[in-house]
Amino acid sequence: MRRRFLMKRIRFLLLFLSVALSFVCSDLVAAQEPKPLLLPKPQIDGGRPLMQVLKDRRSSREFSPEKLSDQILSNLLWAASGVNMPDSGRRTAPSARNWQEIDVYVAMAEGLYLYDAKAHQLTPLLKEDIRAVTGTQPYVKDAPINLVYVADYSKTGKAPSEERDLFCPADAGIISQNVYLFCASEGLATVVRGLIDRPALAKVMKLRSDQGIILSQSVGYPRK
Ligand SMILES: Cc1cc2nc3c(=O)[nH]c(=O)nc-3n(C[C@H](O)[C@H](O)[C@H](O)COP(=O)(O)O)c2cc1C
Repeated sequence: MRRRFLMKRIRFLLLFLSVALSFVCSDLVAAQEPKPLLLPKPQIDGGRPLMQVLKDRRSSREFSPEKLSDQILSNLLWAASGVNMPDSGRRTAPSARNWQEIDVYVAMAEGLYLYDAKAHQLTPLLKEDIRAVTGTQPYVKDAPINLVYVADYSKTGKAPSEERDLFCPADAGIISQNVYLFCASEGLATVVRGLIDRPALAKVMKLRSDQGIILSQSVGYPRK
């Protein structure tokens, strides 16, 4: 009788301990998870006249180490591929069949982030500075921002591969031109780049097998 009572108490104690432990563990995991980087609201009432911006659009490969403010970064990402029609979720860049399959990754000295257009925030992915790996040219490491345009093929449905292979680069190219125009408007230097060691970069970025790197684009203030 006494033995059964003791066993009951031990079982109760074990249950209590396991519940308490699970609470502590979930708190620890939550504390370790990096928090998203909230971006200020994009300023969409500024910018120079479109025709002047088109006149000034060009590629530049010499960057100052000066960082972009959070506000400029916010405006840049919104211009690149932000949500401009919140009711429908449409973006500043069109995409074939509205796949919205091009993800914009942001490589900075602080680490690698993924632009979450819907929430307009940056999801931290890596703490390492991978800027130098985003291209094969030496100037790439000097740019404070290197955007990487990655196709998420899981969003292209059952499209035949020849369609996917045409549309994904087109969609990335349009985002790149949005960035060119924003940079021309803001006096920033930029160049879109296809010269990338894709297998090496995909490995560093820990991409899935159904993702493909299309282009990268360096952005920063021009070197004085
Ligand atoms: C798809 C594409 C890939 C490019 N790849 C590179 C590249 O890897 N490295 C680079 O320095 N410039 C690259 N460029 C930039 C071109 O060299 C540049 O646009 C061209 O010389 C014309 O200069 P502009 O942009 O000033 O008119 C690329 C441009 C495009 C459209």
